[in-house]
Amino acid sequence: MYKKKLLIILMILAGCSGVEAAGNPAAGQEKAATCAGCHGQDGNSETPIFPKFAGQHAAYIAKQLYDFKSQKRPNPTMNAISEMLSDEDIADLSAYYASQQGTTETPPHNALGEKIYRTGNPATHVAACSGCHDPHGKGNPLAVIPSLRGQYAAYLEKTLKDFRGGVRGNDMNAMMRTAALKLSDDEITAVADFISGLK
Ligand code: HEC
Ligand code: HEC
Repeated sequence: MYKKKLLIILMILAGCSGVEAAGNPAAGQEKAATCAGCHGQDGNSETPIFPKFAGQHAAYIAKQLYDFKSQKRPNPTMNAISEMLSDEDIADLSAYYASQQGTTETPPHNALGEKIYRTGNPATHVAACSGCHDPHGKGNPLAVIPSLRGQYAAYLEKTLKDFRGGVRGNDMNAMMRTAALKLSDDEITAVADFISGLK
């Protein structure tokens, strides 16, 4: 048991230092010009179907870019764009966006969404999102669990449906496919709404 835990900690540390060691935010800022048309210059996209990632954890951004590059996460646009990025580009871009400030959204309060987020749905075995993503939606950088707060509801809804249907399957140990599997359409809409308003 002890050995297994130690091994997991070492694997996490090795993964993170590899990704974050070399990132240069100033170089990343220049490289981000290519991405600005869809994601905004600082990672605060203006179109709800393009995700925001200003202030997102660098390790999570880097993981997504590698997953797009290897086609582990399918999206024709991002698969083609990430193809052209070197390891250094990925480290620089991730460091730059992580250093930016994310904008917030102010949807009306959604009671069903809050219930799913904080307690899940025991009747259908839906786990509480807050257990992994943090009560304020800040995620957990060491475990490469993304920050969700302030993300557009439209993107959250799309990606939750992608996890539920197995279209997006780049989550370690199927953590998100399992979390989303038993969510109904109404619950997805509600929880996406609630999360977008987290600060
Ligand atoms: C033509 C529009 C477009 C351009 C240009 C573009 N992206 Fe994207 N990007 C998208 C779309 C659409 C998605 C959502 C994919 C999905 O639904 O799974 C996305 C997703 C992402 C994600 C995943 C975010 C998350 O929360 O999981 C990252 C990271 C990303 N893009 C980084 C970049 C970087 C870095 C560049 C520039 C090198 C870039 N993108 C250029 C359209 C674009
Ligand atoms: C067991 C831990 C765990 C639980 C419980 C969990 N998540 Fe996640 N979630 C993750 C991990 C890990 C990822 C990153 C997957 C990857 O590497 O692409 C993630 C990714 C996401 C993403 C994608 C973010 C983006 O920017 O693309 C969304 C949205 C999300 N989770 C929402 C939820 C919601 C809503 C719930 C509750 C119904 C939930 N999660 C429950 C671990 C969890």
